[in-house]
Amino acid sequence: MDIWHIRGGQRLEGISFVQGSKNASLPILAASILIPLRCELHNVPKLRDVDAALRILRHLGCRAEQWGNEVYIDSTTLSGSSIPHQLMEEMRSSVIFMGALIARCGEARLSLPGGCQLGRRPIDLHLDALHRMGAEIEEDGAEISCRVSKLHGADILLRYPSVGATENAMLAACGGKGETVIHGAAREPEIEALQEFLRTIGAEVSGAGSETIRIGGMRPQDHAVQRIIPDRIVASTIACAAAATGGHVELRGIDSKHFSTVLHFLNKAGCDIINNNRSVSIRSDGRLRAIGEVVTEPYPGFPTDAQPVLMAALLRAQGKTVIRETIFENRFRQVPELRRLGADIRCSGRTAEIQGVDFLHGTALTATDLRGGAAMIVAGLAAEGETVICDAGHVTRGYESFDLCLRALGADIYLEY
Ligand code: UD1
Repeated sequence: MDIWHIRGGQRLEGISFVQGSKNASLPILAASILIPLRCELHNVPKLRDVDAALRILRHLGCRAEQWGNEVYIDSTTLSGSSIPHQLMEEMRSSVIFMGALIARCGEARLSLPGGCQLGRRPIDLHLDALHRMGAEIEEDGAEISCRVSKLHGADILLRYPSVGATENAMLAACGGKGETVIHGAAREPEIEALQEFLRTIGAEVSGAGSETIRIGGMRPQDHAVQRIIPDRIVASTIACAAAATGGHVELRGIDSKHFSTVLHFLNKAGCDIINNNRSVSIRSDGRLRAIGEVVTEPYPGFPTDAQPVLMAALLRAQGKTVIRETIFENRFRQVPELRRLGADIRCSGRTAEIQGVDFLHGTALTATDLRGGAAMIVAGLAAEGETVICDAGHVTRGYESFDLCLRALGADIYLEY
């Protein structure tokens, strides 16, 4: 059990270099098995989810190692196409190995994925996309088997721009004969990062970042090097922590476009935002005001992953903010814990009303999920007295050395393992 100890009330101040993106790393790790390949990935965060993906790669017969933020993969030795339940259940993103395995081996056998308990999280869109490319899918309880004799290009219409389904379809399409066109694709920066990697390994892919992605043939390369993009949700979390504590933080090495909606709302709440090339500074005087309504949406809308941390930043803002969560049905799990700090939040279905309070008081909390746990840290930094968060490893799934990162900015926080 991880235990976060936070003594709140310190302004965050200083420069922070934002870690590499977890959600960009994971599909690229899966993509490394598409063809026999040796690849180096730089700026990969050291996280439990990344480690889980590396263990899946090793289970499949690849060499996969991480030293600091460098990852080396040799997938020329790939020898398996099934992933056992105990590896699948560690994280939801393991499901994108399905598209990559189908493309490389013509078959994949895995069980339903794990990950944060944010709601139903079905994978029907993933399976439908693979089916359209010729895969035969059998579901037996929690086990899924996919098999294909000839993977072919297809026109795929996603009725919702699912990030994972878009990635799975892109990966499978790399092994298909003929062109695949994905309509209604997710437009997240992580999809563009995946496209860049696929191009590096020889795939003809275009359109990532728009609603239509085209995947043509593949001229396989045997070596690839890629740098992972910075993590826009970690950047959002540090920005929200700066806002909540009346701090002044400069985030370096990030692309502000990737979290512009978060910066927009922090600005609306009263923070000064100065946007330079590859750096953003957030300055708050600690007296935030409510920001009306925030609605989570697929990119380029306001990200659901930043919703809990923005909520945490607004707990002491003057007035009432309404947050509407449209992506996941169970994404207010942090609310009962935040209330224990003195927050005034009312939830009804997918809507939460946050009425700002004058002060929050530290207490003992339990992290509910990855971003919910991060929200508790942000709130704890803004609370008076000590906050202790018991965390069954949620936050470290997505934040690398977060205690050190915040301590370098002046926070009084330490993580007991
Ligand atoms: C990814 C991110 C996650 C983020 C989410 C939404 C990674 C590793 N994870 O998750 O951090 O919160 O995008 O931005 O990149 N859906 C279906 N059927 C499907 C697939 C999805 O109905 O087959 C629904 C989901 O239930 C959910 C919505 O689509 O309501 C969005 O899910 P999706 O975009 O697929 O999220 P993930 O890829 O799982």
